[in-house]
Amino acid sequence: MTAALANWASAFTDEQAFQREQEQLGRYWTLLGVAHDLRMDGDWIRAKLGGRSVFVQRFGDRLRGFENRCAHRFFPLRNQDKGNGPVVCGFHHWRYDQEGVAVGVPMCPELFGVAPRALNARLTPVEVATCGALVFGRFQADGAGGTLEDFLGDSFPIINTITTTAGRPHVHGHPVAANWKLCVQITLDDYHIVAVHHKPHYHADADLQYPRFGMHSAHFTGHADTLESMAQACRAGTYRPDHYRIFNIFPNLAVSLFRASFRNQPHWYFNVQQFVPVAPGRCEHRGWFHRVEFLPFEGNALARFAQPWVEIVRARAVRFYQDRTAREDHETCERLQQAARRIEGWPILGSQETRIGWFEEAYAKALI
Ligand code: FES
Ligand SMILES: [Fe+2]
Repeated sequence: MTAALANWASAFTDEQAFQREQEQLGRYWTLLGVAHDLRMDGDWIRAKLGGRSVFVQRFGDRLRGFENRCAHRFFPLRNQDKGNGPVVCGFHHWRYDQEGVAVGVPMCPELFGVAPRALNARLTPVEVATCGALVFGRFQADGAGGTLEDFLGDSFPIINTITTTAGRPHVHGHPVAANWKLCVQITLDDYHIVAVHHKPHYHADADLQYPRFGMHSAHFTGHADTLESMAQACRAGTYRPDHYRIFNIFPNLAVSLFRASFRNQPHWYFNVQQFVPVAPGRCEHRGWFHRVEFLPFEGNALARFAQPWVEIVRARAVRFYQDRTAREDHETCERLQQAARRIEGWPILGSQETRIGWFEEAYAKALI
């Protein structure tokens, strides 16, 4: 084990290690929210990036991101999770344009001796890019270059395909009294399904594939396709799902595609989960799910008319099962967090926990 890997658990309990970790991770593309909340001109969302509060706002056809901190005296510009309206600070009414420049400053010549633009006061920018319904951001910095498409690699066309839906995704989530990495790790672990989720049997190794790409990895059940062939089919618009898939995107995002059967009819859903770090022993589980239609709806006119109402019922059932699974996972993470000070050395990882080792390798590299 390298010295970097030896520190894998230090930010679970150490505030300084947690701050340092967060600063480093802000350089990597991180999910900030969903495009459905940014459809109208002036829409904005608030999010966390690298331990700092940021916001993304639509200006016409462009999305812009900034640290949520006024250049005047550092007041938070956005004080709710989402909204609509110009960037005007609530403390002294400084107004910012889409470049993050203070262009409206009350009493500026009298109080500051110059016109607003001459103050050259600007917000810290956040680079923003989208993939399907997902809006990502990162602080511009040397060393973590490349576009979002480069960063996501073969998962880019896949996430683009499965999260692009006409409807507004259903929101779920809750606070978890555990470090964000424990919650990520449990999404990378195929070994806990019997003990934690009371499944009747374990996976056979032979049924699983674990594609690794860049800092990320995926779980494929079955061998009908590979990451590359799935990506190709998604690019071509010909992908049709057959088995469960989950894509774990470094640092704290998991996008899954799963089947829910109702009256013996399969319906496919995406589920986006993110574990937003709040403190060494706390994170926020944020999630969005929605049905994915891979083919045009084939039912008759009455069935088409009834679809939105039927979907409300289906989505309730999906939410019930998802919440139950998340609760089981997160109660386990919370117990582990309570014992986090007693973690020593490196865990003993079996083949169905391989991806935890890969994730920790990516984490160690990111923190160098
Ligand atoms: S702190 Fe924002 S205008 Fe003063
Ligand atoms: Fe689980």
